[in-house]
Amino acid sequence: MKTAITEMFGIEHPIIQGGMHYVGFAELAAAVSNAGGLGIITGLTQRTPELLAKEIARCHDMTDKPFGVNLTFLPAFSAPPYPEYIAAIREGGIKIVETAGRSPEQYMPALKAAGIKVIHKCTSVRHSLKAEQIGCDAVSVDGFECGGHPGEDDMPNMILLPRAAEELKIPFVASGGMADARSLVAALALGAAGMNMGTRFIATKEAPVHDNVKQALVAATELDTRLVMRALRNTERVLRNKGVDRLIEIEREKGRSLKIEDIHAEVAGVYPKVMIDGEMDAGAWSCGMVVGLIKDIPTVKELIDRIMADAERLILDRLAGFLGAETKAALKVA
Ligand SMILES: Cc1cc2nc3c(=O)[nH]c(=O)nc-3n(C[C@H](O)[C@H](O)[C@H](O)COP(=O)(O)O)c2cc1C
Repeated sequence: MKTAITEMFGIEHPIIQGGMHYVGFAELAAAVSNAGGLGIITGLTQRTPELLAKEIARCHDMTDKPFGVNLTFLPAFSAPPYPEYIAAIREGGIKIVETAGRSPEQYMPALKAAGIKVIHKCTSVRHSLKAEQIGCDAVSVDGFECGGHPGEDDMPNMILLPRAAEELKIPFVASGGMADARSLVAALALGAAGMNMGTRFIATKEAPVHDNVKQALVAATELDTRLVMRALRNTERVLRNKGVDRLIEIEREKGRSLKIEDIHAEVAGVYPKVMIDGEMDAGAWSCGMVVGLIKDIPTVKELIDRIMADAERLILDRLAGFLGAETKAALKVA
């Protein structure tokens, strides 16, 4: 399939694996890129720019296809050294960066000078337009369904994607709630040039996370995510567990006076406990509503091949099948 996104990034299929803390290691990024999608290493999971340089080198050893690095600008207890991370990205020969969190405006000159294509993840049309205006090459439009940070507008993709299509000149992918061929074809119909998946890629053989995490995703339904940290205007969609129930209880007690320190135990340092040790009740970790559509743990290649084959059938059989013979003849469709 050829779209503005496959052309821009030099990939075979319009499928991107979003950066994911403690999931987006070289193993997963390489598996996605080798399967014809765009794999992405999560920059800040590497604690220093030197470690990121090593992770990029490891990924180059596993694939000769294009892959990217995610740089997330979120409120943190101490700000990471972004210029040094960008230097590691540039020196590692990376040509695609996924930015997220806040506007990458401050870092655009450095990224552009290195010939890097920037795809910025946005949860609103206004942020997408700002990304276009500051020179981003593409946008990942992240709807309310998404795992991670959906922003504060609560706008689902059914509305957000066509609105983005109405306003944007640069290409965009649909992010949030994407899992299969149905998601991809719907995203294309709504104006996107591909899709970005997070949660779905965790339940794959190559995702380098504890098996408990994959089993939890298969067992969960679409009713099992919760929104936390709204009072801090840092809303995150996470998988419900005992730690999250505790967090929500604290949020209820504190109301609008909630401070990040009040929930430190439930949100800080949780990812290694969950992803490496498989402690599923440790606290808040991102997970999308799309978890309700995850029923198996295929290899990345099986997943991507299945999506592309099913998408072709969906378009040619189901959608074209709705057209009458006269319309088909006029459109020259078999
Ligand atoms: C476990 C997990 C960790 C994530 N970590 C990050 C991150 O560090 N930076 C980022 O920009 N997005 C992060 N995301 C968001 C994903 O890149 C992607 O935008 C999101 O998962 C899309 O929604 P979906 O889960 O419905 O596919 C994370 C998502 C998950 C599920």
